[in-house]
Amino acid sequence: MASGIDSFVDAVRNVFANSEDARAQARGIAGELKVLLARPDLMQEIAAKADGRTGRIDLHIDDEFGHPGPGFCLMTSISRPAGRTGGARAHDHGASYVVYGVHKGAIEQTKYTWAYEGDLTAPVLKPGDCFVQNAGEVAFFLPGEIHRTTALGEDAPVVLRLEGQLLDRVSRHTYDLENNDEARLYG
Ligand SMILES: [Fe+2]
Repeated sequence: MASGIDSFVDAVRNVFANSEDARAQARGIAGELKVLLARPDLMQEIAAKADGRTGRIDLHIDDEFGHPGPGFCLMTSISRPAGRTGGARAHDHGASYVVYGVHKGAIEQTKYTWAYEGDLTAPVLKPGDCFVQNAGEVAFFLPGEIHRTTALGEDAPVVLRLEGQLLDRVSRHTYDLENNDEARLYG
Protein backbone atom coordinates (compact mmCIF):
# COMPACT_ATOMS: atom_id res chain seq x y z
CA MET A 1 0.00 0.00 0.00
CA ALA A 2 1.42 3.41 -0.98
CA SER A 3 2.32 5.79 1.82
CA GLY A 4 -0.62 8.02 2.71
CA ILE A 5 1.67 10.91 3.60
CA ASP A 6 3.62 10.62 0.34
CA SER A 7 0.39 10.44 -1.67
CA PHE A 8 -0.90 13.51 0.15
CA VAL A 9 2.29 15.46 -0.54
CA ASP A 10 2.06 14.57 -4.24
CA ALA A 11 -1.56 15.75 -4.30
CA VAL A 12 -0.67 19.04 -2.56
CA ARG A 13 2.14 19.66 -5.03
CA ASN A 14 -0.40 19.12 -7.79
CA VAL A 15 -2.74 21.68 -6.18
CA PHE A 16 0.05 24.27 -6.13
CA ALA A 17 1.02 23.48 -9.71
CA ASN A 18 -2.53 24.16 -10.86
CA SER A 19 -3.47 27.30 -8.89
CA GLU A 20 -1.83 30.56 -7.81
CA ASP A 21 -4.84 31.60 -5.72
CA ALA A 22 -4.39 31.13 -1.98
CA ARG A 23 -8.05 30.39 -1.27
CA ALA A 24 -8.31 27.87 -4.10
CA GLN A 25 -5.11 26.22 -2.90
CA ALA A 26 -6.35 25.98 0.69
CA ARG A 27 -9.67 24.53 -0.44
CA GLY A 28 -7.94 21.95 -2.63
CA ILE A 29 -5.49 21.01 0.12
CA ALA A 30 -8.34 20.66 2.64
CA GLY A 31 -10.00 18.11 0.36
CA GLU A 32 -6.79 16.11 0.09
CA LEU A 33 -6.17 16.30 3.85
CA LYS A 34 -9.59 14.77 4.49
CA VAL A 35 -8.49 11.75 2.46
CA LEU A 36 -5.26 11.45 4.45
CA LEU A 37 -7.06 11.71 7.81
CA ALA A 38 -9.21 8.72 6.89
CA ARG A 39 -6.20 6.43 6.46
CA PRO A 40 -6.32 3.67 9.10
CA ASP A 41 -2.51 3.35 9.06
CA LEU A 42 -1.79 7.07 9.54
CA MET A 43 -0.65 6.76 13.16
CA GLN A 44 1.89 4.08 12.22
CA GLU A 45 3.21 6.31 9.44
CA ILE A 46 3.53 9.27 11.78
CA ALA A 47 5.25 7.14 14.42
CA ALA A 48 7.73 5.86 11.85
CA LYS A 49 8.59 9.39 10.74
CA ALA A 50 8.73 10.70 14.31
CA ASP A 51 11.24 7.97 15.27
CA GLY A 52 10.69 8.51 18.99
CA ARG A 53 10.69 12.31 18.91
CA THR A 54 7.97 14.31 20.66
CA GLY A 55 6.78 17.86 20.17
CA ARG A 56 6.54 19.33 16.70
CA ILE A 57 7.22 16.81 13.93
CA ASP A 58 7.70 18.13 10.41
CA LEU A 59 6.53 15.34 8.10
CA HIS A 60 7.40 17.15 4.88
CA ILE A 61 8.88 20.52 3.90
CA ASP A 62 8.63 21.15 0.20
CA ASP A 63 11.49 22.80 -1.66
CA GLU A 64 9.47 23.96 -4.66
CA PHE A 65 5.86 24.86 -3.82
CA GLY A 66 4.18 26.97 -1.15
CA HIS A 67 2.45 30.24 -0.31
CA PRO A 68 3.60 33.02 -0.25
CA GLY A 69 6.91 31.36 -1.15
CA PRO A 70 8.29 27.84 -1.55
CA GLY A 71 8.27 25.62 1.51
CA PHE A 72 4.81 24.28 2.32
CA CYS A 73 5.00 22.14 5.43
CA LEU A 74 3.00 19.17 6.67
CA MET A 75 3.44 18.87 10.42
CA THR A 76 1.94 17.30 13.50
CA SER A 77 2.80 17.40 17.16
CA ILE A 78 3.14 14.50 19.54
CA SER A 79 2.49 15.21 23.20
CA ARG A 80 5.11 14.37 25.75
CA PRO A 81 3.95 11.72 28.26
CA ALA A 82 4.10 14.23 31.12
CA GLY A 83 1.05 16.09 29.91
CA ARG A 84 -0.17 18.55 27.42
CA THR A 85 -0.09 22.24 26.79
CA GLY A 86 -3.09 24.51 27.09
CA GLY A 87 -4.70 26.46 24.32
CA ALA A 88 -2.43 28.46 22.08
CA ARG A 89 -2.56 32.25 22.01
CA ALA A 90 -4.68 33.87 19.35
CA HIS A 91 -2.54 34.33 16.27
CA ASP A 92 -2.49 34.86 12.54
CA HIS A 93 -0.34 33.11 9.97
CA GLY A 94 1.07 36.22 8.33
CA ALA A 95 0.91 36.08 4.54
CA SER A 96 0.52 32.31 4.68
CA TYR A 97 -2.47 30.12 5.53
CA VAL A 98 -2.93 26.89 7.47
CA VAL A 99 -5.20 23.90 6.88
CA TYR A 100 -6.02 22.09 10.14
CA GLY A 101 -7.09 18.44 10.14
CA VAL A 102 -8.00 16.28 13.13
CA HIS A 103 -7.11 12.59 13.02
CA LYS A 104 -8.02 11.69 16.60
CA GLY A 105 -9.86 13.59 19.32
CA ALA A 106 -11.28 17.07 18.88
CA ILE A 107 -10.25 20.73 18.96
CA GLU A 108 -12.16 23.96 19.32
CA GLN A 109 -11.45 26.79 16.91
CA THR A 110 -12.35 30.39 17.75
CA LYS A 111 -11.97 33.15 15.20
CA TYR A 112 -11.34 36.76 16.12
CA THR A 113 -12.18 39.89 14.20
CA TRP A 114 -11.28 43.55 14.63
CA ALA A 115 -14.17 45.62 15.96
CA TYR A 116 -14.67 49.33 16.63
CA GLU A 117 -16.42 50.25 19.84
CA GLY A 118 -17.22 53.90 19.39
CA ASP A 119 -13.68 54.90 18.46
CA LEU A 120 -13.13 54.25 14.78
CA THR A 121 -9.42 54.82 15.16
CA ALA A 122 -8.75 52.14 17.80
CA PRO A 123 -9.89 48.62 16.86
CA VAL A 124 -10.08 45.83 19.44
CA LEU A 125 -10.22 42.07 18.93
CA LYS A 126 -13.59 40.39 19.41
CA PRO A 127 -14.37 36.65 19.35
CA GLY A 128 -16.34 35.64 16.28
CA ASP A 129 -17.30 32.24 14.98
CA CYS A 130 -16.45 29.25 17.17
CA PHE A 131 -16.69 25.64 16.11
CA VAL A 132 -15.47 22.16 17.01
CA GLN A 133 -13.36 20.05 14.68
CA ASN A 134 -13.85 16.36 15.33
CA ALA A 135 -11.82 13.44 13.95
CA GLY A 136 -11.79 13.46 10.17
CA GLU A 137 -12.76 17.13 9.86
CA VAL A 138 -10.71 19.88 8.24
CA ALA A 139 -10.78 23.70 8.37
CA PHE A 140 -8.52 26.33 6.87
CA PHE A 141 -7.57 29.85 7.92
CA LEU A 142 -6.65 32.27 5.17
CA PRO A 143 -3.93 34.95 5.20
CA GLY A 144 -4.81 37.59 7.79
CA GLU A 145 -7.35 35.50 9.71
CA ILE A 146 -6.88 35.39 13.48
CA HIS A 147 -7.82 32.31 15.49
CA ARG A 148 -7.14 30.34 18.65
CA THR A 149 -7.11 26.55 18.90
CA THR A 150 -7.96 24.69 22.12
CA ALA A 151 -7.68 20.95 22.66
CA LEU A 152 -10.84 19.21 23.88
CA GLY A 153 -11.25 15.97 25.80
CA GLU A 154 -9.03 13.96 28.12
CA ASP A 155 -6.49 12.75 25.58
CA ALA A 156 -4.36 15.05 23.46
CA PRO A 157 -5.86 15.20 19.97
CA VAL A 158 -3.80 14.23 16.93
CA VAL A 159 -3.84 17.22 14.59
CA LEU A 160 -2.15 17.52 11.22
CA ARG A 161 -1.48 20.97 9.82
CA LEU A 162 -0.53 22.01 6.35
CA GLU A 163 1.26 25.34 6.55
CA GLY A 164 1.19 27.17 3.20
CA GLN A 165 4.78 28.03 3.98
CA LEU A 166 6.78 26.77 6.95
CA LEU A 167 5.65 29.31 9.55
CA ASP A 168 9.15 29.78 10.94
CA ARG A 169 9.84 31.63 7.69
CA VAL A 170 6.75 33.86 7.93
CA SER A 171 6.40 37.06 9.99
CA ARG A 172 3.14 36.99 11.94
CA HIS A 173 1.53 38.11 15.18
CA THR A 174 0.17 36.71 18.41
CA TYR A 175 -2.46 38.64 20.36
CA ASP A 176 -2.95 39.20 24.08
CA LEU A 177 -6.71 38.77 24.42
CA GLU A 178 -6.87 39.75 28.10
CA ASN A 179 -5.27 43.14 27.70
CA ASN A 180 -6.32 43.68 24.09
CA ASP A 181 -3.44 46.04 23.60
CA GLU A 182 -0.62 43.78 22.55
CA ALA A 183 0.07 42.47 19.09
CA ARG A 184 3.44 40.80 19.29
CA LEU A 185 5.38 40.09 16.14
CA TYR A 186 7.12 36.76 15.95
CA GLY A 187 8.22 34.14 13.49
FE1 LIG B 1 -3.08 28.74 13.61
